[in-house]
Amino acid sequence: MDRRDGLRGTVMITPAGLPAGNGGSAMGTGRLQGKTAVITGGNSGIGLATAHEFVAQGARVLITGRDQATLDTAVAGLGDAARAVRADVGQMGELELVAAAARDFLGHVDVLFVNAGIGKFAPVELVDEAGYDEIFDVNVKGAFFTVQSLLPLLADGASVILNGSVSGLIGMAGSSVYSASKAAIRSLARTLSADLTARRIRVNVVSPGPVTTPILGRMGLPPEALQETAEGIRQMVPLKRFADVGEIAKTVLFLASDDSTFILGSELVVDGGIVNVEG
Ligand SMILES: NC(=O)c1ccc[n+]([C@@H]2O[C@H](COP(=O)([O-])OP(=O)(O)OC[C@H]3O[C@@H](n4cnc5c(N)ncnc54)[C@H](OP(=O)(O)O)[C@@H]3O)[C@@H](O)[C@H]2O)c1
Repeated sequence: MDRRDGLRGTVMITPAGLPAGNGGSAMGTGRLQGKTAVITGGNSGIGLATAHEFVAQGARVLITGRDQATLDTAVAGLGDAARAVRADVGQMGELELVAAAARDFLGHVDVLFVNAGIGKFAPVELVDEAGYDEIFDVNVKGAFFTVQSLLPLLADGASVILNGSVSGLIGMAGSSVYSASKAAIRSLARTLSADLTARRIRVNVVSPGPVTTPILGRMGLPPEALQETAEGIRQMVPLKRFADVGEIAKTVLFLASDDSTFILGSELVVDGGIVNVEG
């Protein structure tokens, strides 16, 4: 198979080297003007919203995911400044496809949002080895090797943002494996930042609280149990609501942009107050 079989979308570059068709950012005012970005899991939820935010701010964006149909729809909505590559971050061989596509489309990478992740929840007695491995393969191993495989393409001074979760900070029943995977992400932001200081590459974490995305619906719960779970989660939040994806995308934009150049190894919690405010 051609390593670029998964690439979709057409790129139009204006004579000035700016991506065409991204509204006001063509005037050169975007906070990511002229930058290049890779977003894993960019075909859904938080990743897709962030892709729209980045394109609106003047970036060219490569999104990844597993589902070709939603990748195609996402690129159609994002316009000429975006392309997609299909790759499972849990399969080491497929990460090469992402690097090849990034090299071809972007040349180098200024911003990497390691966002692809899965959430599955069960009481500790009911977790089996396969379930444990599935979560760690995607959320931890996938995240680690996504960064490693793109290191040669990351520009000096690049910003890497890992998507963690408020779950990594609190002891929520039934979330042991998912929460541990997100706690590992916090640690990676610190250690990878330390490894990469010579290249001034900053690695930070955004840790959302509950966000309205398809992730809950992917857990296979019947509709009533899903509604009950969602309501239980909502009650945990002092603001008594889920975040909108745009609220997370704006935070990722801050970490991606030159507004945060002195921040590395840090975690920004975007949780409606769960961690710090009495509900
Ligand atoms: N929603 C929340 O409440 C919440 C809270 C805290 C943290 N987060 C984190 O936010 C991130 C994004 O989740 P979301 O809420 O936006 O959910 P989502 O809409 O379900 O998006 C998950 C994304 O990850 C991709 N993905 C999953 N497994 C993958 C794999 N093995 N290889 C490649 N891509 C894979 C999916 O692509 P396909 O659809 O193509 O599989 C999809 O684009 C996750 O890391 C999640 O843990 C979410």
